[in-house]
Amino acid sequence: MQSTIAMQACDLRQIDEDPAFASRLEKLVSLSRERHINTFTQIEWPDFLPDDQWWLPPELLSVYGTEHAETMPEQQLKLLSKWECINQFSLNVEGERELLSALSAQLYAPDLPHIDTYIHHFIDEENKHLWFFAEFCRRYGGKVYSSKKVNVAGERFCREMEFFLLFARILIFEEIGGYYNVIAGGDERVTPFVRMIHQIHHADEARHITFGRTILSQSKEIAFAAADPAEREAAVAHLQRYVQISIESLYQPAMYRDSGIEAGVALRRKLLSHPARREHHVSRLLKRPLKFMNEIGINLEGQTL
Ligand SMILES: [Fe+2]
Ligand SMILES: [Fe+2]
Repeated sequence: MQSTIAMQACDLRQIDEDPAFASRLEKLVSLSRERHINTFTQIEWPDFLPDDQWWLPPELLSVYGTEHAETMPEQQLKLLSKWECINQFSLNVEGERELLSALSAQLYAPDLPHIDTYIHHFIDEENKHLWFFAEFCRRYGGKVYSSKKVNVAGERFCREMEFFLLFARILIFEEIGGYYNVIAGGDERVTPFVRMIHQIHHADEARHITFGRTILSQSKEIAFAAADPAEREAAVAHLQRYVQISIESLYQPAMYRDSGIEAGVALRRKLLSHPARREHHVSRLLKRPLKFMNEIGINLEGQTL
């Protein structure tokens, strides 16, 4: 399916012809310049963060809404919140590292729309995020967790579809991170330094999400018109799998182990099939990206969510 399509001209350049797109891009570039902060010098890192405080609100914990949370004393839940926070930030490290390399590969490609200036800001901001999330994990957790999230992009698609899928994966990743940023960043129970990290991240991410929605709205029809039926079906399945892997990565057995909770692998399995957790994924955590993707004609609500 790939070889015949790859020989055709790429149609993504027509995005440049839309004046509304050009002006939105210009606005995002000027906001990035106005709101630029040097996080390398401006974050003052405390020597340590206390284990007996919330690092995430209890409602964001992977056990919330289940009998497992009810049987854990508050001190245990607070310790779990520390390691779930380290896991969430580790996922940001991993996701942003992949995103940086994928975004760099788009720069100045002659067959792509002229999004290069904004992509430079995107890369600049993600580079700083990657640094402060890794710094946080290493200072306060002594490690960056690694997950099995890599290698979702095993298949080959035509150029238009690859472009669309790249930004779709980025949007899903950023919307999930954004959910944590907004809730934890606005919750006074969360220890102030962690809250601040969420707030700093959200300030940039809101622009990235706006960009993602704009570029996906522009490129969806082009990508789906360029692809054959089998490729369209494979593209939707690819994104469903990406969503599923993203959800599973929030239930990292190592974070249960580091919190002193036994049988983390079994707990992960029980939680992933728990009706309260499924409800949380679909109705809260993924609500915005699922709704947006539906609006552009892609149903990502797979059976296993
Ligand atoms: Fe980021
Ligand atoms: Fe981002």
